[in-house]
Amino acid sequence: MKESRAKELKAPKELAELARPSIFQIKPYVPGKPIEEVQRELGLADVIKLASNENPLGPAPAAIEALKEHAPGVSLYPDGASFALRKALAAHLGIDPEFLIIGNGSDEILKLLAEAFLSPQDEAIISSTTFGEYAYASHLMGARIVTVPTREYTYDLEAMAQAVTPKTRIIFVCNPNNPTGTYVNGNAVEMFMRRIPEEVIVIFDEAYYEYVEAEDFPATLEYVKEGRNVLVLRTFSKIYGLAGLRVGYGIGRPELIDLISRVREPFNVNLLAQKAAVAALGDAGHVRRSRETNHAGKQFLSQRLADMGFNPLPSQANFLFVDVRTDAQQLFKAMLKQGVIVRSGEIFGEPAFIRVTIGAPPQNERFIQALTVCLGKENE
Ligand SMILES: Cc1ncc(COP(=O)(O)O)c(C=O)c1O
Repeated sequence: MKESRAKELKAPKELAELARPSIFQIKPYVPGKPIEEVQRELGLADVIKLASNENPLGPAPAAIEALKEHAPGVSLYPDGASFALRKALAAHLGIDPEFLIIGNGSDEILKLLAEAFLSPQDEAIISSTTFGEYAYASHLMGARIVTVPTREYTYDLEAMAQAVTPKTRIIFVCNPNNPTGTYVNGNAVEMFMRRIPEEVIVIFDEAYYEYVEAEDFPATLEYVKEGRNVLVLRTFSKIYGLAGLRVGYGIGRPELIDLISRVREPFNVNLLAQKAAVAALGDAGHVRRSRETNHAGKQFLSQRLADMGFNPLPSQANFLFVDVRTDAQQLFKAMLKQGVIVRSGEIFGEPAFIRVTIGAPPQNERFIQALTVCLGKENE
């Protein structure tokens, strides 16, 4: 195993043997293809990216202003405690700032959590068909991963609760789930939480929280307030449009936040990111417009896909996961040639699905056009 992996990594065996064995469990993250790369490789001028669930409206205008205003200040280190951002978030959420940890993206918080809590003898419970960073962070620390299959493309919380053993340390729940867009409701979460031992840490990754429309979506902050070992993760990368700046946050009881903070680097969130995040949080108009654009785009794409005979899974997020009943990897490549970057479901274990980010109207039109061309349906 080690040798073949070393070969794959092009590392000589002697060097690979010096590395921690657990790193060979990590599957390299496959990022959404950057626009510039596709332009260069395929010689295309006009390329759109609907592959990483970014906000098609861009950043909040207030955040852009904050970036301009604070650019001259970057010769100074940032506030290591992200004081102003924690204060603003605390007011926004109606909690105290000690309940918050800010990360270089919520990805960083997942990693910090694993560093603080997972050892090789521990188990982490992860659903199939979900965000890859849970497995990454768990493997990194050498923990054993227990994978629970989804049911009808939705998290099976009952089965996840059943999978708990005395070795279980962390359970990861992505809600709404990336890549399916499906969600688990308040009742399902309540039944689940009743079955989870107090000492097990439950992560509710709510990266797409601000897009959720379902009225029975769980109020997970209540578990935090009750003193459960729950960490709720949210991010500025999605609706706030700040993915390139890398800011995410975790909400948990202060004792939990304190433990995670011990492994945090002193200046993990950069100065401009902190300033822009505070400004974006105050720009309610941008959030509203982003939600409206997403809602309309979701309806448009769902309808047009249905007209083509496809049924995307019901989504509470800013993307759709669609069974295209063909080799998604081939379709992905064909779509690239049309200048449209989507995600093949292959990396999520669903090789006949694609995931497409809901864009602004021109992007959605362009996606449907490209899909029609690629599937040879233009004459139907
Ligand atoms: C479910 C989920 N969690 C976390 C993240 C990471 O977000 P961030 O940019 O805050 O690291 C993503 C990004 O795609 C995501 O889909």
